[in-house]
Parts: sequence; C-alpha cells; structure tokens
Amino acid sequence: MAVIEVKNLVKAYKIIKKEDGLIGYFKNLINPKYSEFQAVKGINFSIQEGELVGYIGENGAGKSTTIKMLTGLLTPTSGEVIVNGIKPNEKRIENNKYIGAVFGQKTQLWWDLPVIESFDLIKKMYKIPNNEYKENLKKFTEILELEDLLNKQVKNLSLGQKMRCEIAATFLHNPKIVYLDEPTIGLDVFVKENIRKFIKEINKEKKTTVILTTHDLKDIEDVCDRIILLDKGQIIYDGEKQKFKDTYGKYVFAEFIIKNKTENIKLNNAQIIEETENRLKIKFSHEEVTILKVMDEISKYCTIEDIHMKEAELEDILKEIYKGAHTNVKVNDSIRKNAI
Ligand SMILES: Nc1ncnc2c1ncn2[C@@H]1O[C@H](COP(=O)(O)OP(=O)(O)O)[C@@H](O)[C@H]1O
Ligand SMILES: [Mg+2]
Repeated sequence: MAVIEVKNLVKAYKIIKKEDGLIGYFKNLINPKYSEFQAVKGINFSIQEGELVGYIGENGAGKSTTIKMLTGLLTPTSGEVIVNGIKPNEKRIENNKYIGAVFGQKTQLWWDLPVIESFDLIKKMYKIPNNEYKENLKKFTEILELEDLLNKQVKNLSLGQKMRCEIAATFLHNPKIVYLDEPTIGLDVFVKENIRKFIKEINKEKKTTVILTTHDLKDIEDVCDRIILLDKGQIIYDGEKQKFKDTYGKYVFAEFIIKNKTENIKLNNAQIIEETENRLKIKFSHEEVTILKVMDEISKYCTIEDIHMKEAELEDILKEIYKGAHTNVKVNDSIRKNAI
C-alpha cells in the first residue's frame, strides 16, 4: 500500500527581481518586482509502507522543499501530496499524529529541560500509552546509548548527543512515516553509525517508512534500498540503489604502488586520477578493458609492487553525474521504467 503519493508536484518561490545600481536598490525598496523560481518542477513518486528511501541531489536541488511539502509545512504551488490518505498541509494536526520529522540541526526538544522531561512531554502530547512509551524508551536508550544523557539538560549536550536524543524523540510515538532531512550533518562517524543502526532496526521491527536526505552518501549506502535522485527540481532517477550502481557505476578504481618510474605514465585504456613517484591512481571501465591489460600498459613505465581495487561507490557515481559525464541520466520515461 502506498503511504505517500506525489503527483505533478510543483513549488515555486516568489523572489524579488534585483535591479542594478543605487537607483535600482531604491526602486527595489519602494516597488519590489517579483518573479517566480520553481524549486520543485512537477515531480511524481509513490512510496510504499516500510520503504527506506534515500532522497538525494546536489545542494539546492529541492530536497528540503519537497520534504517540507510532505510534512505539511509548505503548501504546494500545484500538484498533489497525499500522505496516509490525507493532504498534509490541509490536515496538519491529523498528519502530525502519524509522522516524525528531523530537520538538520533544529531541535524539537526543550532547551532548558533534562532530556527525559522532553520525552515525557512528547508522551503527553501524543498520548502514547504507558507500556508503549516504556518499551520504546528502553529500546531507544539501548540502541542510541542514551543512558547517561537522559537527565542532562538539552543545552548541555554535544551535537552528537543532542541528535541521538532528537532521533529517539522523533520515533517515540511510533510514527508510520519519518522524514529525516540531513540528520547526520556535522556528526562524527561513530554517532552516524549509531543513528544508521537505529533507523535500520526500527524500520525492520515496526515497518516505519523512512525518507532520508543526507550529504553523507554512506548513510544512503548503509540504510536505503531505493534512491530518488533529484536534479534542479526534477527527478532523474527513481529506483533500486543497486540497479543504479550497476547501470552507472561501470568503472573501477585501482591504486598501484609503484617504483622505478622512468617517465610520466600515459595510458590508453584508463584514466589517471593521481600520479606520484610511487603511487598511481586510475579509473577504468571493467566492461571495456581488463585489469591485466591496464597493468600491461603501466608496467612499460615502472614496476608494480601492489594493487588495491575498489568498485565505484554511490558518491563516485554521483560526482560523475553532477559533472555531466552521464548525459544519459535525464528525466525520461525509458530510464525511469528501466529504473523502477
Ligand atoms: N523560502 C525560499 N525562498 C526562495 N527560494 C528558496 C526558498 N527556500 C529554498 N529556496 C531555493 O529553492 C531551491 C531548493 O532549495 P532546497 O529545497 O532547500 O534544496 P536542497 O534541500 O536540495 O538543498 C534552492 O535554489 C533555494 O535557494
Ligand atoms: Mg536541504
């Protein structure tokens, strides 16, 4: 069953048209002229119960704008969002019963209160039954390692500690759907791992639908099965993460430890990323050439002592796409059909 349906969704922001110079500045002040900027340009997707979806794209692609429309914080300019059978912006109170949301570093906890008191307030607000609350609190404390934090005031917590409490608070009322917009920004790798583990466990146990946007693509590698890739307000890929990697990640990275280099290396079958006296990093397509052939070429210039190989990760592939290397990743039906 689809818990989220998005149809031809558009969000246009009004922006002031800037006029140049001092006269322009005063004109702007007295009689500002507006123009429209479409941050989300007619997107479509549907999300089933229990899915873990990575909503990704470059800065400014329109991810947060979409999430704000899904949560009901923003009203769409046109098109439709149906979450759990209702339009979130029209029925915000009802919508809020079933959802949880984390927006970057904004907090929903009470700054001056000990964490546990914030949790108690959330319990009251959402009328969480006693046993459910206790069960969740126990489990969340365990996975997110909150034991020593519960009695501390929120304002005294570190960023990572605060985010762990924030995540727990978001899931306390057993929301059906959780939106996480950059939840791991600025956190160290251990906290990130902790949060990823939590999301996966709760999703598995409670079939919570999770939509995650993040700059750290390791979050997506680790947590999500499906990705939706947004580019300048349009969806350019929607489908399984693995299929995406198989389709666009046909190259391999290799790092060679070398010695006795005679001259600068030139390769016909691979692209050089970095070259020093005793190290060579390259990239090649494993569909077009074998590693043996590449090694043959390299050994004309030096002695190879060791090799490390790495498949392209999500981050590598996306860098290529953003650079425009994969011009075939466009909004187009055949790709979307192929992807879904
Ligand atoms: N309130 C606003 N008014 C005008 N433009 C906005 C507003 N909020 C966001 N934008 C613009 O819309 C685009 C998408 O923003 P956003 O959804 O925050 O992107 P993302 O979360 O993918 O980085 C950006 O170009 C941003 O500058
Ligand atoms: Mg954002």
